[in-house]
Amino acid sequence: VNSEAKRSCKLKLKDVLGKEITTIEGISAEDGGLHPLQQAFIDAGAIQCGFCTPGMVLSALALLLTNHKPNRAEIRQALKGNICRCTGYQQIIDAVQRAAAIMYPNE
Ligand code: FES
Repeated sequence: VNSEAKRSCKLKLKDVLGKEITTIEGISAEDGGLHPLQQAFIDAGAIQCGFCTPGMVLSALALLLTNHKPNRAEIRQALKGNICRCTGYQQIIDAVQRAAAIMYPNE
């Protein structure tokens, strides 16, 4: 919501009226291509069942919009509250760093 990660289960409609909402479907390229974060999750092996992936990707995107080169601790902090039963988190953190390098190559 307005480039901040929010938990949709805790939002009321009145709290998002007039605000910009980005969903996991909305971050893909117009031609349907994957967002660099989505591709990085695939390339880093950060997706297994995929249940957590939309929340992880959108939380990571909110972080990368304000922090172009986060360290591992900053990524963990940004993703806290997103639970993954499959990957053990290391690949997810790898994916976020990989995406940051692709999205902001000169930083
Ligand atoms: Fe299965 Fe994260 S990939 S819960």
